[in-house]
Amino acid sequence: MIDVNTKLLGLIGYPLKHSFSPNMHNYAYLKNNLNYAYIPLEIEEDKIKNVLNSLKALGFIGFNVTIPYKVKIMEYLDDIDELAHKIGSVNTVKIMNGKLKGYNTDGLGFIKSLENKDIKIKRSKVLVIGAGGASRAVSISLCSRGVEKLYITNRTYKKAEKLSKEINSKVRKCSSSFKFDEVGKILKEIDIIVNTTSVGMKPHINETPIKTDNIMKKTDIVDIVYNPSKTKLIKETEKKGCRVVNGIDMLVYQGSEAFKIWTELESPVDDMKISLEKFLI
Ligand code: ATR
Repeated sequence: MIDVNTKLLGLIGYPLKHSFSPNMHNYAYLKNNLNYAYIPLEIEEDKIKNVLNSLKALGFIGFNVTIPYKVKIMEYLDDIDELAHKIGSVNTVKIMNGKLKGYNTDGLGFIKSLENKDIKIKRSKVLVIGAGGASRAVSISLCSRGVEKLYITNRTYKKAEKLSKEINSKVRKCSSSFKFDEVGKILKEIDIIVNTTSVGMKPHINETPIKTDNIMKKTDIVDIVYNPSKTKLIKETEKKGCRVVNGIDMLVYQGSEAFKIWTELESPVDDMKISLEKFLI
């Protein structure tokens, strides 16, 4: 029940109709008797400054930021965490003593979802499919965590080349780009494959971002698509015996990492996951 002690959290974006976050957070707080409330705030861009001042005045302890403000929000913050700075976008803000600090838990959550399955990142060789916003967060986080080699491939090759060059100059010299039709050549040496594209998402559930025939059993598969929770890529590689991480894990962990940042408490990961699965069915 909301009372005078309830700690307030929010989500800023536009539109928010399809967001799963309010549901995921509020369900988990309720189930665990945590006196927090997570409120969707659908706002237009010219209101951001006023809204941020209002959140401070109302005593909010933090908020998430989603499309289309993940980059824009950065100009209003007092401080930005190093990983978020490298990724170039913020999806979580903590409010402390009237100051705003930005984080990127898409990156942190991605790493956590791998660690949760004991997937080793350090010194591994990773193939990332896609070169858009999600790939940025994933690729930069992986390079920051010490992968040996990061190959980026993308339908539009130029974008893979550009992201790869940027990572080499901004983070560490660990990345190279690969043409889509040449990926088969490196599959044998790959420890982890990450799909960051929307290929396989409903309604295109019969597509995979790359052919799975030559993927090795030792390769771990991560798909950021969460609807369906088991994409064709996940199903086919799981059948081969690969370890798999689905998009729900990444969603849950970006939320639970945000909760940890706001509260410094352990987050109710299991209930967040249950709520998402219910929501998606
Ligand atoms: P997000 O923020 O979710 O990453 P995005 O920035 O629009 O979204 O990037 C989408 C990524 O999925 C891109 O890498 C895109 O490839 P292009 O750069 O060639 O557009 C990739 N993608 C989307 N649909 C695809 C498809 N049908 N086949 C292959 N790649 C696809």
